[in-house]
Amino acid sequence: MANYLVTGVAGFIGSHVAERLIKRGNSVRGVDCFTNYYARSLKEKNLSELLESPRFVLDELDLSSADLGSVLEEVDAVCHLAAQAGVRASWGRSFETYIDCNIAATQRLLEACKGRSLARFVYASSSSVYGETDDLPMRERGATCPVSPYGVTKLAAEHLAVLYHRNYGLPTVSLRFFTVYGPRQRPDMAFNKFISATLSGRPVEIYGDGKQTRDFTFVDDIVDGVVRALENGPPGEVFNLGGGSRVTLNEAIDTLERVMGMKINRQYETPQKGDVSNTLADNSKAQNELGFAPSVGLEEGLAREFEWLKSL
Ligand code: UGA
Repeated sequence: MANYLVTGVAGFIGSHVAERLIKRGNSVRGVDCFTNYYARSLKEKNLSELLESPRFVLDELDLSSADLGSVLEEVDAVCHLAAQAGVRASWGRSFETYIDCNIAATQRLLEACKGRSLARFVYASSSSVYGETDDLPMRERGATCPVSPYGVTKLAAEHLAVLYHRNYGLPTVSLRFFTVYGPRQRPDMAFNKFISATLSGRPVEIYGDGKQTRDFTFVDDIVDGVVRALENGPPGEVFNLGGGSRVTLNEAIDTLERVMGMKINRQYETPQKGDVSNTLADNSKAQNELGFAPSVGLEEGLAREFEWLKSL
């Protein structure tokens, strides 16, 4: 029975990953520092099911300052999901937080893992490392040229993961997530904002003309990819994890209108700095080497996110 360390366990993806590991019969030590990026009450809700399990332990601590040696005791594998998320918020003074949470904390954790006999160290990277490109679908071997400060920090930590593999044999695997959605999605992300605004009779703000495209990935599919990487991801490698198709934001909102059975009041605003025009994952490497096969389509996934938001 493996014992996993999951960082960022109170977050959107972290809480889902930990639940899947517990359901498989594993033990999870979850850490989170409950940053104030969004309400603590939402993160506590994310944890409610986990806290009922005797195989789950929660440690409230900050990776930038905690004694990581004791955190890693008896841990077999690490799933590092803790981060300062958010593409558009990463400009200006807040960049310091991105450096601390995404680069410095990751380096500190990698240092602490050095020399331990870990089965895997899985790091959550992002499609934002690719930046603006016409070369679609995005392939792991393609150019990385982020257009947001956030993307710069996610790419820097990806490089660190590779360095710790090459120099210290740490079995790191980096996963580039493509715009994840579903129950527990962060409140700053598009679908959460659109559903919440529409339910309370407000218009939604669309950045730009809505013709930007995204490869939206349902959270259960991401969890599946993460668990596969924890089990048998080839050390030192980087993988895309995407839904495998892309839609324009306007099309996604049409789908959301059908799912909600409500008209969405669209208000078009200026484009935001740091946003890329298009994303689309080439999943073939993850498919061939991890057995990754996303299965939840946009309509079904949006229906599940809608049900969750209504239940809150
Ligand atoms: C998301 C996550 O927030 C990042 O943490 C993650 O690393 C990234 O995916 C990724 O895949 O790399 P993003 O694609 O911007 O970033 O996800 P959303 O916030 O859901 O935005 C999707 C699209 O909707 C973007 O084009 C954005 O500009 C647009 N949007 C968002 C709006 O038009 N209005 C809003 O109020 C919010």
